[in-house]
Amino acid sequence: MQIPTLGATLAALVLVSSAGADVESDLRTVLNFGPRVTGTAANEQARGYLEAQFRALGYDTRREAFSYPRFDDLGSDLRQGNQTLSGRALEGSTGGEVRARAVRVPGTGTPEDFRAVNVRGLIAVVQRGQLSFLQKAKNAQAAGAAGLIIINSEAKELQGRFGERLALPALAVTSTTGAALRDGQEIQLRVRVRDGEVRGVNVVAFKSGVSRPEVLFGAHMDSVFRAPGANDNLSGTVAVMELARRTVNTPLAARSYFVLFDGEEDGLRGSRAFVKDHPALVQGLRTMFNFDMVGVNVSPLNVTGERLLVETAKQVAGLPGSFPAEGGSDQVPFDQAGVPTLFFHRGLDANYHQPGDVLADPALIRATVDAALGIVDVVLKTPVPAGR
Ligand code: BES
Ligand code: ZN
Repeated sequence: MQIPTLGATLAALVLVSSAGADVESDLRTVLNFGPRVTGTAANEQARGYLEAQFRALGYDTRREAFSYPRFDDLGSDLRQGNQTLSGRALEGSTGGEVRARAVRVPGTGTPEDFRAVNVRGLIAVVQRGQLSFLQKAKNAQAAGAAGLIIINSEAKELQGRFGERLALPALAVTSTTGAALRDGQEIQLRVRVRDGEVRGVNVVAFKSGVSRPEVLFGAHMDSVFRAPGANDNLSGTVAVMELARRTVNTPLAARSYFVLFDGEEDGLRGSRAFVKDHPALVQGLRTMFNFDMVGVNVSPLNVTGERLLVETAKQVAGLPGSFPAEGGSDQVPFDQAGVPTLFFHRGLDANYHQPGDVLADPALIRATVDAALGIVDVVLKTPVPAGR
């Protein structure tokens, strides 16, 4: 009897851990990690799991890192007496805690408005409107304020940005919170922010030796702050994984790349980095299929993209094709690079970017994969049009 080596035993364990993995187990496992905001531990845990799934299937994987600046409000508020009132740091504001009297500045914070009161060393409170957030903040700084509160004109959270960095802690509050602020009362402003580079990491999976794929199946694996991102976009991520699973022993696998993009929610960062870093590969693609929000049926599965691909999708899978594309996603940089793209989605659901984005339907994900496989089959049988 042969005694298995440690390597073989480990390989077998990896196989066991992914044997039986399916759409349901992928959804369950990854959702458990929590929101997958780029640069967070949960995002990395999700990537580790997904990467292991590709490998267990027999694909090679490669990580491709990129970075970009991001401003995060880590939870800012103000305290008045024993009340805690929430607010949002203005983007570009410095972090810090200031305990001082709140002074209501009349009007909207013009230099004249500031001349009517003394805010030196105090927290200036101004109304939104008329001038830019930046101008109000500069006027407050010129008047010597130690902090700034901007009151929204409606009872909604205000997510404002200065457009540059300021050495002033500044918080935006709703009109309701603004009305609760008492002039002359000591308050504590707590602005907690992180301002710096974020590192994103794309995962690329392919069969060993493939460097010039004809098809790229992509989806973003990151989500927004506080949203578990089941539909946006674990649904698309799991669709790509299921495509990898379904095709692994077919010729299509050797003609494809499977890419999980990071940093989509921060402005298509991962797909832009991919397109920029692989010009030859991207030019060689016959098509890029992107999957984003395919696990909740707001509308039946829809495709948008290059005219011929949309026509094919209509004929082969009976999908409604529509123009223009709803919402930006990772097909955009490919489209801009001249690659024929097809974007699969089922519309924006009510939990879009909300903590309630916790459900994605496995049956809808599988149906998306079925449709995509039907379409790609026809696309690859079609002769390459002249000029490409
Ligand atoms: N998942 C959405 C895009 C989307 C919109 C999919 C409609 C399906 C239907 C994506 O993650 C997103 O939120 N995109 C942003 C733009 C992006 C550049 C940050 C958007 O659409 O506003
Ligand atoms: Zn999305």
